[in-house]
Amino acid sequence: MPPSRWATSAEDDARLAKEKEEKRRRKAEKARKLEQQQKEAEAAAAVAAQNQPQDDEQSEQRPSKRRRLSPELDDDAPPKLLRFDAGGWSKSRSVENYDKLNDIEEGTYGWVARATDLTTGKVVALKRLKLEPNDRSGLPVTGLREIQILKDCRHRNIVSMEEVVVGDDTHRLDNSIFLVLEFVEHDLKSILEDMPEPFLSSEIKQILLQLTAGTAYLHANWILHRDLKTSNLLLNNRGQLKIADFGMARYVGDPPPAKLTSLVVTLWYRSPELLLGVKTYGAAVDMWSVGCIFGELLTREPLLQGKNEVDQMSKIFELCGVPTDESWPGFRRLPNARSLRLPKNTLTTGSVIRARFPNMTSAGAGLLNELLSLDPERRPTAKAMLQHEYFRQDPKPKPETMFPTFPSKAGQERRRRHEPHAPGRGEAASFGDADFTGILQGRDKEERGAGFSLRMV
Ligand SMILES: Nc1ncnc2c1ncn2[C@@H]1O[C@H](COP(=O)(O)OP(=O)(O)O)[C@@H](O)[C@H]1O
Ligand SMILES: [Mg+2]
Repeated sequence: MPPSRWATSAEDDARLAKEKEEKRRRKAEKARKLEQQQKEAEAAAAVAAQNQPQDDEQSEQRPSKRRRLSPELDDDAPPKLLRFDAGGWSKSRSVENYDKLNDIEEGTYGWVARATDLTTGKVVALKRLKLEPNDRSGLPVTGLREIQILKDCRHRNIVSMEEVVVGDDTHRLDNSIFLVLEFVEHDLKSILEDMPEPFLSSEIKQILLQLTAGTAYLHANWILHRDLKTSNLLLNNRGQLKIADFGMARYVGDPPPAKLTSLVVTLWYRSPELLLGVKTYGAAVDMWSVGCIFGELLTREPLLQGKNEVDQMSKIFELCGVPTDESWPGFRRLPNARSLRLPKNTLTTGSVIRARFPNMTSAGAGLLNELLSLDPERRPTAKAMLQHEYFRQDPKPKPETMFPTFPSKAGQERRRRHEPHAPGRGEAASFGDADFTGILQGRDKEERGAGFSLRMV
């Protein structure tokens, strides 16, 4: 009788053992190769990092004779996708490696503190990741996006993240994850509130230029910030601006996802299409916020301070005019626009931006006007804005190194703010059938009346 198919002979045993041995050897070889590749990649990254221009230290050691004021982006370069370094997961270090110096911001929402790295002595900012009560089972997607985006971004006008650390009590998720950020002395909101004199035109230009360069970098890398405002813009003592707070940011593709939440961006900086409930939107929402920030730099006051969504919309219409089918084709199709009652008076459809900023050059007022276009399609992209006449006209943007320094509040005591927060989830307010017909009453009188004239430039 032939032996059973399943019976193993001594020969079989020997063959199996040999095969096993061979498999083990191949596996070890593969692991060795992988490790070597990883080492090489790390070395290359280190070299690249060293060669990275415009490092703070470098610019301090070698002030170049001619300052480069032109934007960072190479015009002709196709948009690049960011690299995600796969692998390399390792255990996060503990927050115990840092020693807290003082709170920078402590509110019901967030917590940011100044701290020193105990091993290197370097001063950093620690930001506790926000978690909501119903998120206890895991990290909210917004927190993961904030980490992912900060991890991917490397630009002189974007705040840099050094690492993510965890608290010791990992069972208490709400208390346990911290972003370690480069420490930046000021935020723009605190400076604007405290400065005795307004910024000079050349300073405003430099700040706006850096904000635009940072925004152009984000948009070129498919990131929408969705909460640009002065308290999320940091300024260091060397006149460098850094965009911070990616708690509302996300990656979008082209075409953008069909259904995005319109409940983004702090009310005062929120674009009309978001207020009208648009579901598909793009980089233009950030450009609206850039326009609001530009206005705020000029007056040291937030430009459009609505008390609620309907009031915000009225304030926008008062400044920019009421939309028409010509000025904003298709706006009527937006969810909150269907029941909107608008004044019929043609006097209400023009913008009064130039009149509100009579001291601006026509290039400056023109740029502000373009940024605050009701129709998102008419706002300039960040990349296009970098080439705007406004930045080339005199006075030229003031070199960063010539910027005034300000006493840092972040380096001292904590403070509380008076401004609306970035929207939370599920707070959507509907317009109902809000009536805007009365908002611009009297504009015709204003135009003729004493002390107020529309300047036509
Ligand atoms: N890297 C930093 N260096 C110094 N201060 C910072 C830094 N990041 C944030 N801050 C301060 O903390 C405040 C809140 O930080 P932010 O990232 O905007 O968190 P939140 O999501 O709570 O608004 C900022 O307005 C700024 O004043
Ligand atoms: Mg913030």
